[in-house]
Amino acid sequence: MNELRESDDVYRRFQLIVNGPALFNAVVTGVELGLFDFLSGRGTATAAELVEFTAMEPHKLRVLLLGLTASGLVEKTADGYANHPVAERLLAATGPESWRHILRSWKTLYYPAFYHMTAALTAGTNSGIQAHEGTERTLYERLAHDADLAEIFHSAMSAFTLQTMPGLLTHLDVGQTRHLLDVGAGAGTNCAHLLSAHEDLTATLLDLPNVIDMAKTRLPAELTDRVEFCSADMLNDPFPTGADHVLFSHVLDTVSAEQAMSLVTKAFDVLPSGGKISVYGFSAADDERGGPLAARLSLYLNILATGRGMAWPVAEIAGWLRQAGCIAVEGVGDLPYEHAMVVGTKP
Ligand SMILES: C[S@@+](CC[C@H](N)C(=O)[O-])C[C@H]1O[C@@H](n2cnc3c(N)ncnc32)[C@H](O)[C@@H]1O
Repeated sequence: MNELRESDDVYRRFQLIVNGPALFNAVVTGVELGLFDFLSGRGTATAAELVEFTAMEPHKLRVLLLGLTASGLVEKTADGYANHPVAERLLAATGPESWRHILRSWKTLYYPAFYHMTAALTAGTNSGIQAHEGTERTLYERLAHDADLAEIFHSAMSAFTLQTMPGLLTHLDVGQTRHLLDVGAGAGTNCAHLLSAHEDLTATLLDLPNVIDMAKTRLPAELTDRVEFCSADMLNDPFPTGADHVLFSHVLDTVSAEQAMSLVTKAFDVLPSGGKISVYGFSAADDERGGPLAARLSLYLNILATGRGMAWPVAEIAGWLRQAGCIAVEGVGDLPYEHAMVVGTKP
């Protein structure tokens, strides 16, 4: 029976999933203690050296290292402990793209909310949001009440944006674009990279007021004269005119299908003939059998962030663009991180 189970992929996945929260937190603790950085600098360290570095009780460190070696992110050899290349690449890095920012946000914001999943899904509301100050309906709006949490959230979002940036830079066609309207631009990470890569491109960043304030401080000084900022509620305020390309990057997944249709129509209406709409983000497989990143994001959106939306399949996004009036609608799925790009043109 055991042999049969060990060879069963679903059984192995089950064990990983149900033990995952403990291993997830072991990895976060490793980051918080600077253990991955220490191993990165040293190459290899003995248990005694790690005890000295962390100033932990030897037994507590032993237990933590068991968790980290079980995760595979730390390797145990005859010489001691070392980072696996995945840990070296994703966790020991200190840049803005480091997964450490994402893990900090998942520990602080995401996973406490997942406790409320059954209640939230059965009640049909994002009841996980009750842990956050305010009366607004979305996490994005409530974060305006907590600058520290907003910083954690947007640093994680920027890190994810940087991880998924290669797909955007490769598949977003701004060759003929003069002015890009980036709706739900976040802290401006996408725009900073796009403007750096295309010297004639200008852009408007549209987001909620507290996020635009953050974007203003984060955007590299040399780009500010090519950028306009627009503090607005994308759902209720009109879109600014003047752009010939509208980008929704990781935005339509946060809203309902009806709201997505309305946003795409608003974009269509402000574009000139020949203007483009590009939709980039997580996307579930068209048959909705996965994958895990799309599933996690869709659950998070519904129990915490907005109470609606999902990692929409390509066919659905393409349908909105056609319904709005776009022609030459094309979608590219299967991009890294379960992403897709769907593009349409105003005739
Ligand atoms: C998941 S983030 C995407 C950020 C960025 N576009 C990216 O690709 O990384 C969603 C963004 O939409 C913004 N947003 C959510 N609701 C909004 C609203 N009603 N009006 C304007 N922006 C909104 C959030 O503040 C957040 O910056």
